[in-house]
Amino acid sequence: MTGPDQPATRWDDQWEDQPAGTADEPVSITAYPNGPLLVRGPFEILTPTGEVIPPRRRTVALCRCGVSTLKPFCDGSHKAIGFTTEQEPPEPQPPLGS
Ligand code: FES
Repeated sequence: MTGPDQPATRWDDQWEDQPAGTADEPVSITAYPNGPLLVRGPFEILTPTGEVIPPRRRTVALCRCGVSTLKPFCDGSHKAIGFTTEQEPPEPQPPLGS
């Protein structure tokens, strides 16, 4: 958790930047156990009014616990509140169109 003297950091700061991908590359969203949703690939995050929120990285962590101070991004606060994902993830499904 960050204090008033420390800048908030995003949970996805732990990953190195990756080179830009192509539009043909698939986007994937992974529900991280007891944590955020990891989004990988070429994507845009938009505000409700349609403005682009710069992702800074090709892999970002989106908050799903609701307490991040950097929404929509995860800042690691889920650990401090003991956020848990109680349900098992659904079984993998075949890709659409297969
Ligand atoms: S999921 Fe990490 S701060 Fe919410």
